[in-house]
Amino acid sequence: MDYDIADIALAEKGHLRIEWAARRMPVLEAIRERFVAEQPLAGYRIAACMHVTTETANLMLTLVAGGAEVVLCASNPLSTQDDVAAALVDTGIPTFAVRGESAETFYEHINAILDTNPHIVFDDGADTTTVLHKERKDQPIIGGMEETTTGVIRLKAMADEGVLRYPIVAVNDSATKHLFDNRHGTGQSSLDGILRASNILFAGRRVVVAGFGDCGWGIATRAKGLGADVIVVESNPVRAVAAAMEGHRVLTADDAAEAGDVFITATGNIHVFRGEHFAKMPDGSIVANAGHFDVELDLVALDEMAVSRRVIRDNLEEYELPDGRRIYVVAEGRLVNLGAAEGHPADVMDMSFSDQALAAEWIIKNAETLEAKVYTLPDYLDEEVARLKLEALGGGLEILSDEQVEYLASWQHGT
Ligand SMILES: NC(=O)c1ccc[n+]([C@@H]2O[C@H](COP(=O)([O-])OP(=O)(O)OC[C@H]3O[C@@H](n4cnc5c(N)ncnc54)[C@H](O)[C@@H]3O)[C@@H](O)[C@H]2O)c1
Repeated sequence: MDYDIADIALAEKGHLRIEWAARRMPVLEAIRERFVAEQPLAGYRIAACMHVTTETANLMLTLVAGGAEVVLCASNPLSTQDDVAAALVDTGIPTFAVRGESAETFYEHINAILDTNPHIVFDDGADTTTVLHKERKDQPIIGGMEETTTGVIRLKAMADEGVLRYPIVAVNDSATKHLFDNRHGTGQSSLDGILRASNILFAGRRVVVAGFGDCGWGIATRAKGLGADVIVVESNPVRAVAAAMEGHRVLTADDAAEAGDVFITATGNIHVFRGEHFAKMPDGSIVANAGHFDVELDLVALDEMAVSRRVIRDNLEEYELPDGRRIYVVAEGRLVNLGAAEGHPADVMDMSFSDQALAAEWIIKNAETLEAKVYTLPDYLDEEVARLKLEALGGGLEILSDEQVEYLASWQHGT
């Protein structure tokens, strides 16, 4: 393949950053070494639609090390790191992604990876899976993997309607994924995105977090750690109480709109903050979204309300309202941590992507018996990933004595 000098320089930068991420992914590294020896994916074609980041690059390299033929496209138009895409192409992994691609190109790229007739599809948000169920209904697929909460919700809706046509592993639902990636990854990197775009001080800010699921928990906890006064908006009463007991104020979206000055959505839902809320937000409010799709903030309504718009910094757009108030939108309302920062740190993606690699191996091993259902990875694989991560972190795991195992298994003891 021929490159011009700009591509070579870009690819070189990508290679170095991929190497840096690899050093912080020891569990995936161990799996990669085993894959080289055992070749569990030999003879399989894998098409992946995921955020094109340094961590994803290491997952792709692990799949190739396991013997698979791999192609990649982006799972969000704004999350692609072009240097990583260039480096992957340089390595020989066809990568269809360019940061800022149009919706049309985004779907052309999904179709391009599917044109390679993959046996297995890795998805993040279920867009590729949806194309396979709407437009490419006859294309044979052995199995799939889904990375995020929103994708899993869509898959479960497909399974409930009885239209799911092959087994899919909900990797998001592994404990070693959502308890760490969604919480610690999204928590830190969403604030990182807002900081890079705005350089505000969080201390003393009134930060409204909509959704107190795994992602919202992470964002709220980290914002509080930086000295912010955190307000949570939740629609689930149990999670609302959990937020209150973490020391956050819990308000309706309406009341929070007046009380806050930084607003971050992480619900997986639509129009969480909309016209009536923008009408109340204080001058200078910053709004950002960490949920999968760019629908959590109703930016069409904000645009209709605005008298002018201008990009004031990279990834930060000012909307001026008729009364002079200004509202600042980070990364076009798309995933703030990937649009305005680099996504989750490699340290946490180590576990998510180890789950992904093991899921590919598991689905191939069990292809003949699996049904067209949404599966979670067996607990022993989840625990193995945690065990390896703890080892890498330098922790020690307590082993129960026979007496303790027997005690826990018995009901015949008491006071
Ligand atoms: N930015 C990232 O890198 C990243 C990483 C993981 C997940 N995600 C995405 O973030 C979103 C949230 O994921 P999660 O794992 O935290 O999901 P979750 O289901 O654990 O939490 C979502 C919470 O939002 C609440 N909610 C729903 N609608 C609401 C509304 N209108 N107002 C207030 N609360 C509302 C729900 O009750 C729930 O508690 C999903 O779209 C997921 O795909 C993003």
